[in-house]
Amino acid sequence: MTDYEEFITNIKRKTGIDLSLYKEAQMKRRLTSLYEKRGFKSFSEFFNGIEKDRELLNEFLDRMTINVSEFYRNGKRWEVLKDKIFPRLLQSNKKLKIWSAACSTGEEPYSLAMVLSNYLPLSQISILATDLDDNAIAKAKAGVYPERSLAEVPANIKSKYFDQEGSFYKVKDEIKRTVTFKKHNLLKDSYDQNYDLIVCRNVMIYFTEEAKDQIYHSFSNSLRTGGVLFVGSTEQIFNPSRYSFDIEDTFFYKKM
Ligand SMILES: C[S@@+](CC[C@H](N)C(=O)[O-])C[C@H]1O[C@@H](n2cnc3c(N)ncnc32)[C@H](O)[C@@H]1O
Repeated sequence: MTDYEEFITNIKRKTGIDLSLYKEAQMKRRLTSLYEKRGFKSFSEFFNGIEKDRELLNEFLDRMTINVSEFYRNGKRWEVLKDKIFPRLLQSNKKLKIWSAACSTGEEPYSLAMVLSNYLPLSQISILATDLDDNAIAKAKAGVYPERSLAEVPANIKSKYFDQEGSFYKVKDEIKRTVTFKKHNLLKDSYDQNYDLIVCRNVMIYFTEEAKDQIYHSFSNSLRTGGVLFVGSTEQIFNPSRYSFDIEDTFFYKKM
């Protein structure tokens, strides 16, 4: 077993996270630069360090998860969601079942609530938001963001749903109440059923082809017929019909 393979086994035992399902070269590069910065010479030394030091475990988790996010990320896609996808979904059903998977620090599910509030009162909106990373979920629940996270937020939404506190912006409680955050590992935990919309963006790029294939199948099984999967702007699905998906618009797939 190589140094990295042994590390994968140890991390899986310790945290339940299976690094073998993440693209190897990319993950190795990120983790090597972290352990070298901390003075270790190999993955096995790094793991010994992680065993002894909770902070180092947190740093490892932080480095492997990559929590970068922003509100209305790739703004044009959110216009399509608002003007085309939500109106169609709402034709058949006024109570939508929505999941923001790998939601990181919460910008994505809160954006979903803000967009949907164009059509429904907030009291009728309920969004499940999940991520692997406890730290990201804690930040999501706090709902406080630097101005740069709001660069794509329309001005009227910014004044309606955020309170400015110094150089930070706090999501209003009425929006926060629409989102339930939970820990969930896309590679391991079970998926709920009958979703109208699943949003999973900017995480598939980190997974191996095999892991992606498994996740797309699971998403497809979790959507009702006519439901939609909204993916990231570099994450086109190569062969959508393989998962019973039809292309509804660029980066939006409709379950057939
Ligand atoms: C780059 S962020 C994407 C955030 C948001 N979806 C967006 O597009 O702005 C990737 C997120 O995927 C999460 N993640 C990584 N592996 C995961 C897994 N196996 N299951 C669930 N979430 C995972 C990370 O913790 C991180 O918060």
